[in-house]
Amino acid sequence: GKSGYDHYMLKEIHEQPTALRQCLRGRVDELAGEITLEDLDGLEHDGPIQFVACGTSYHAAVHAATICRERGMRANAYVASEYAADRIPVDGETLVVGVTQSGETADTLRALREAKRSGARTLAVTNTVGSSVTRVCDDTLYIRAGPEIGVAATKTFASQQIALTLLAGQLNGGLSYDAIEALRSVPDQVQTVLDTSDAKAVAEELVGSDAFLFIGRGLAYPVALEGALKFKEITYEHAEGFAAGELKHGPLALVTDETPVFAVVTGDGETARKTISNIKEVEARDAPVVVVTDGRSEAERYADYVLEIPATDDVGAAVVANVQLQLVSYWVANLMGRSIDKPRNLAKSVTVE
Ligand code: F6R
Repeated sequence: GKSGYDHYMLKEIHEQPTALRQCLRGRVDELAGEITLEDLDGLEHDGPIQFVACGTSYHAAVHAATICRERGMRANAYVASEYAADRIPVDGETLVVGVTQSGETADTLRALREAKRSGARTLAVTNTVGSSVTRVCDDTLYIRAGPEIGVAATKTFASQQIALTLLAGQLNGGLSYDAIEALRSVPDQVQTVLDTSDAKAVAEELVGSDAFLFIGRGLAYPVALEGALKFKEITYEHAEGFAAGELKHGPLALVTDETPVFAVVTGDGETARKTISNIKEVEARDAPVVVVTDGRSEAERYADYVLEIPATDDVGAAVVANVQLQLVSYWVANLMGRSIDKPRNLAKSVTVE
C-alpha cells in the first residue's frame, strides 16, 4: 500500500534515502578507495563507452557519460530509439551500457542487441531482477531501488545516478576517499531535503503559469532535463529543460513574466558563475526565478524563490537538487488534481518500439 501517503509517487520520493543506502551497501570502501560491484567481477574498461536508454533513464545516462568524461574516459549517451550500431561506431573495444529501470523497454533492448551483434560488450543497469535486459546483456548491475509503482520514475532515477557513478568509478580504477565519503552522505542529505523542502510553497506560488523552464549545466544539465520531464508527465503543463548555455540560442524567446525558470546552481566555481549569468538573462525578462542551490555561490541574490540543498560534491548535488524538483512537480500536479500515479497516455514499461 501507500503507507499513509496520498500517492505512490510521494511515497517513493520519500523512500529515496533507503533506496540509496541499499544501492551503496557493500559496494564502497572509502579507505581503500575501492568500488566492488558484485557480478561485475572487477570489470575495468579503457575503451569507448556508450550509454543507451529512454526517458528518465536517458537522463541518468547523460549523468553517467558526463562523469565518465570528467574521469578521462571516452563516453557518450544516446537516446535508444535513435541509436543504430551500423551508424554509431561499435567494435570489440566498446562497452555499451543499457540503462533501464524496468529492463523491458523495447527501444533499449533493440539497441543493445544491435550493439552486441556488432561485437560490443554489453552491460545492463536495471532495477528488475531477471528482466529481459539481463538476458540480452553480458553483465548486469542492479540499482536495488526496490519496486516502483508510480508511473513517473523517482527513486529509480536517484538510484541510477548513484549506481552509474559507482560504475564509472569501478571501470577506471576506483574513486577518491572524498568522492566515496560524499556518496555515502547522499542518503542523509536527501533526507534533509525531504524534511525541510519549501517545494510545496513554491508550487502554490507558481501553479497556473504559462510554461515552466528548467536550466542547468554540467551534472545539473540532466537534472534540468529530468525536472522538466517529470513536470510535464504529471502536471500536463508545458515544461522544457535546457542546457543553461543554450537559453540565448533560442529558448529565451519563450521567457516572460509568466514562465518560471528553475535554475540548478551548485558549488562556487566556473559552472555556477556561468549559470548565474544565464539567470540574469531571464531575470531581465521578468521571469520568476527559482534557484535550487547549496548557497555556495551568489545565485540566491537573483532568485525570487530558493530551494535549498545541503552543500555536497557535484554528484550528491545532482541527486538532491533533483529531489527538490520532484517535489515541485508533485505539488503542482497535486494542486491541479492530476492523476499523479497514472498520468494519462503513459505506461510504466514501454514494450513496443
Ligand atoms: C519517466 C519515465 C519514463 C521511463 C522510460 C524508460 O518518469 O518513467 O520516461 O524512464 O520509459 O523506462 P525504463 O527505465 O524502464 O527503460
